[in-house]
Amino acid sequence: AMITLRQLLDHAAEHGYAVPAFNINNMEQGLSVMKAAQDTRSPVILQASRGARSYANDLVLAGLIEGLSRAFPDIPICMHLDHGNGLETCATAIQNGFTSVMMDGSLKADGKTPADYDYNVDITRRVTQMAHACGVSVEGELGVLGSLETGMGDQEDGHGAEGKLAEHQLLTDPDEAVRFVADTGVDALAIAMGTSHGAYKFTRKPDGQILAMHVIEEIHRRLPNTHLVMHGSSSVPEDLQAIINSHGGDIRPTWGVPVEEIQRGIKHGVRKVNIDTDNRLAMTAAIRRTLVKDPSEFDPRKYLKPAMEMMSQVCRDRFEAFGTAGQA
Ligand code: G3H
Ligand code: 13P
Ligand code: NA
Ligand code: ZN
Repeated sequence: AMITLRQLLDHAAEHGYAVPAFNINNMEQGLSVMKAAQDTRSPVILQASRGARSYANDLVLAGLIEGLSRAFPDIPICMHLDHGNGLETCATAIQNGFTSVMMDGSLKADGKTPADYDYNVDITRRVTQMAHACGVSVEGELGVLGSLETGMGDQEDGHGAEGKLAEHQLLTDPDEAVRFVADTGVDALAIAMGTSHGAYKFTRKPDGQILAMHVIEEIHRRLPNTHLVMHGSSSVPEDLQAIINSHGGDIRPTWGVPVEEIQRGIKHGVRKVNIDTDNRLAMTAAIRRTLVKDPSEFDPRKYLKPAMEMMSQVCRDRFEAFGTAGQA
């Protein structure tokens, strides 16, 4: 059944777990998440970016969501818009059956330029009024994601935000978070706490303490009713990189967010954990391996099936690790 982000995360908060939010762009990714959810009895957040919506077509995506909820009737599903950039994108997502939207006003509508506080509050407040009138939840974002290592901001298109960012921009300010939630009424808040999007998060293997745990803790203590969201939460598993690279791929050495760090965040109020890159790596690893092993194969099902299995394995691992398993 379809449920809102608020309903899903209220339950997670009450029981001290988090829900991974997996990006989907097509049927195979949707089925992979749902299969893993069914195997582990987990509630799910499926999220689609603006890029996913234009890739898959809004009507096809709406049909897919409807089909998945009917095929897996026992699994609570929240369908969420990832990184909405304005009122219209959020409104059309709602028209297409999304039960939750993210209004990312931390950046201007171009999705690159860091926005000031007043811009963020104004657009997020207007989206929240509209969405709540439709019974839909809202995630806002305060602070710009990017690497504390390099000071480079990041965005979904893979290009850095303009210029080098200072540490205070890369970590959400707790006082501002309290004001922002009061000013906008969002249900969930994405905060900048040391992660960045994509595969290239850290150039060295992290030895613990990747996340700004003091920032998470303080925001959670002061906003106990606002669910905290961690973007850029892929772990970038070394075994998946190795499979890709040993079958003709070329992934530069890189490290992601260790699962144990995410588990520490969950102890301090993180309830939604965004993961896209790990599933991209999983599907690509399986497809490369299948095609290299059997170069004569050309039936897409022959490589998409192992791709789904490898993606489902990543999803199962995260459901287990975040305490989502058994909660559906
Ligand atoms: O944060 C961005 C997500 O990984 C979605 O990426 O905009 O390429 O679909 P995308
Ligand atoms: P990753 O690139 O770490 O998977 O993050 C995805 C994300 O935050 C989507 O909003
Ligand atoms: Na999101
Ligand atoms: Zn994100």
